[in-house]
Amino acid sequence: MSDQPDNSALDEPSPPGSGFEIPSELPILPLRDTVLFPNSFMPLAVARESSVRLIDDAIGGGRLIGVFTQRDATVEEPGQEDLYPVGTATHVHKMFKLPDGSLRLIVQGLARLTLDEVVAAKPFLRGRVTAAVEQVRDEDRLEIDALMRNIKTNFQQVVSLSPLLSDDLQTLALNITEAGKLADFIASSLSTLTTAVKQDVLATLDVRARMDNLNRILIKELEVLELGSKIQSQVQSEVGRNQREYFLREQLKAIQKELGEGDDQTKEIEDLRKKVDSAGMPEQVRKEALRELDRLSKMPAAAAEYTVSRTYLDWLVALPWAKRTEEIIDLKRTKEVLDGDHSDLEKAKDRILEYLAVRKLNPDVKGPILCFVGPPGVGKTSLAKSIATALERKFVRVSLGGMRDEAEIRGHRRTYIGALPGQVIQGLRRAESRNPVFILDEIDKLGSDFRGDPASALLEVLDPEQNNTFRDHYLDVPFDLSEVLFITTANVLDPVPPALRDRMEVLELPGYTEEEKLKIAVEHLIEKQVKNHGLTSEHITFGEPALRAVIRGYTREAGVRNLEREIASICRKAARRRAEGDESPLTVTPDTVMDLLGAPRFLDEEMEERTKNPGVAVGLAWTPSGGEVLFVEASRMQGGGSLTLTGHLGDVMKESARAALSWLRAHASRIGIDPDFYRSAEIHLHVPSGAIPKDGPSAGVTMAAALASELTGRPVRGDLAMTGEITLSGRVLPVGGIKEKVLAARRVGIREVALPRQNEKNVKEDLSEDLRKTMTFHFVTNIDEVLRLSLCARPAAAGSRAARRPPARRARRVAGRT
Ligand SMILES: Nc1ncnc2c1ncn2[C@@H]1O[C@H](COP(=O)(O)OP(=O)(O)OP(=O)(O)O)[C@@H](O)[C@H]1O
Ligand SMILES: [Mg+2]
Repeated sequence: MSDQPDNSALDEPSPPGSGFEIPSELPILPLRDTVLFPNSFMPLAVARESSVRLIDDAIGGGRLIGVFTQRDATVEEPGQEDLYPVGTATHVHKMFKLPDGSLRLIVQGLARLTLDEVVAAKPFLRGRVTAAVEQVRDEDRLEIDALMRNIKTNFQQVVSLSPLLSDDLQTLALNITEAGKLADFIASSLSTLTTAVKQDVLATLDVRARMDNLNRILIKELEVLELGSKIQSQVQSEVGRNQREYFLREQLKAIQKELGEGDDQTKEIEDLRKKVDSAGMPEQVRKEALRELDRLSKMPAAAAEYTVSRTYLDWLVALPWAKRTEEIIDLKRTKEVLDGDHSDLEKAKDRILEYLAVRKLNPDVKGPILCFVGPPGVGKTSLAKSIATALERKFVRVSLGGMRDEAEIRGHRRTYIGALPGQVIQGLRRAESRNPVFILDEIDKLGSDFRGDPASALLEVLDPEQNNTFRDHYLDVPFDLSEVLFITTANVLDPVPPALRDRMEVLELPGYTEEEKLKIAVEHLIEKQVKNHGLTSEHITFGEPALRAVIRGYTREAGVRNLEREIASICRKAARRRAEGDESPLTVTPDTVMDLLGAPRFLDEEMEERTKNPGVAVGLAWTPSGGEVLFVEASRMQGGGSLTLTGHLGDVMKESARAALSWLRAHASRIGIDPDFYRSAEIHLHVPSGAIPKDGPSAGVTMAAALASELTGRPVRGDLAMTGEITLSGRVLPVGGIKEKVLAARRVGIREVALPRQNEKNVKEDLSEDLRKTMTFHFVTNIDEVLRLSLCARPAAAGSRAARRPPARRARRVAGRT
């Protein structure tokens, strides 16, 4: 075909009709790896030189060739024995020449052939051939029909299961009515069959046998496909979920990246992982943290859960699992620090040093929890702070005042919205150390209600036996509190639940005398406040009389908080003076105090004023904020022998009042009272500050004195305060809170007190030398003594001070000498 362009397509309009004659000799085209069936089209690639020549030749002739498959595809120049004996008479439909000289053909199988003999090998094979005729026996027809149906169904299934076969094949197969053709069509369509199997179908001339063979092939094929799809679906269901998740996550990442979020999140998680690694957590906690981290990494950053999980991890990594400060127990240094920060408080300091000495000798011993008890402003909190400084430990303070919810100590479970750890864990995080000094302030102000009892949660915190595995509800992993040095403070011990009290060693700080306050002011408060206000000791100095004036006239307290406040107030005013241009140094005198703070709020004379008339006596009471001076007023009016008690008195106090009255009636004539007074009189006993509840037996002597004073008309001394319980027989019994009471009397300027004889030892043990020296104590055993001591002579004329003063002053001078 030299007159045709090389790459042109050559067509012959149509193949020979169905009744065509097969010539006895044909060019033989050997095929590798494939079998061409009659009635089917097939593309072929022809590259062998001899084959190219064969096609060239055939295109020039009748385009009819014989196609025979090679037994062994690797043979280059096959002879007769290398070819299967049955092949196909073939029409060359189209031919394309490629630039490299090879050809592409589209050929159509026409009919089966047998190769009888090869007659030429050059330039290409030629052979003698005969038509191979299909055989259909009549007796087989029924079976062939059945087989056809069977094969069609099987083939349909194969097509539907196999991803390689086009669905069109089903329709094509259905339309074929001749059994032999159907078998050929299917065999040529099944791409998975081997060449040998296909050749076997081609070579089987008996149609029933061919159908049989094909059916078996199809059934086998079907089994393979079904098994395959079963495996496939199994694997898919396993892989499916993972894959789905994987794809979704990848998509999410892509979206987040687009939004500029994704990178932050991965970075955040990596950061957290590093922190978990370096936090020194115990193994159990670390595992929990990593688990949570894993959960976090699978969450989208926008989910609400994410923040919850993130916050939790933040807490975990921020806690001082392994961080601690080296404890230095150097008793000498500790004493220096304690003395440096606080004046006096010798008893408390000694006890603290003992406590630390034991810790030093045996670090493993779990000492008791220290509890500082005392009125406000006596230095409980600041003493605890000093201990931290002395030990070079971190310091945290948590106020328990008003806490009613167990969760405040132990945290809320993480399932609550906005849950947080409790105060203990929060405190430790703030401390950034696992061995801080941890002060639990105002343990007496703990409440409890339906939300649980915080005190019982505290029990666990403070119990050295179990606090090494303290479990906060929020963290839900144990934290070791055993190295924390807990110190608690309280104003009063009574409200503290006994179980808690039991775990603590109580250290009392009862309050200060005027001398002690003076010392504290000089040594600490002034310096602190002067500095706080931007001044120096060159700008302002406080004289001792001025300080005394402040203590006496402007404060009335057990501690020194108000004193500090007044000093601050003076400094503030001095600073303002300076700022306004007056640069001269200021020396604070009692007059300047008056100038700067206004008129004194408390006056010593007040006592004498209030007790001027008969019927008023000065008592001493104990309160949580230290001691208190208490007035008892009695009055008599016309009436029918009844006793009225007012002033918010408790039962015990009311009974004391009745006992006092009964004793007076019993001993009326001896003390100069009309024995029948009760018939025509109504007695009213009142304790002012009526809004404040009062109770306890210690006002017994004061009530007796007030009643006796009213009934005899003799005033009670205003410079004498008293306390003591009484019995019906007139005995005076001991009471508590001696130091606080004496301090309270001292504060208001009273220097004489009457106390039960049995409290003499408290005076010796609890009161400082200074205090004892400035006060006069009268120890009494019965009411008679109290009355002898406290009642003045009947005034000659109303308001005459001279009449009542001498005995009082004399008594004081006399007592002062002994
Ligand atoms: N002995 C002292 N020496 C020096 N300063 C003192 C002394 N006692 C108290 N202070 C000072 O008094 C102020 C009040 O003390 P602090 O706050 O410790 O009182 P508190 O006993 O804890 O009172 P509250 O019961 O009200 O909490 C602090 O500034 C403290 O430094
Ligand atoms: Mg305090």
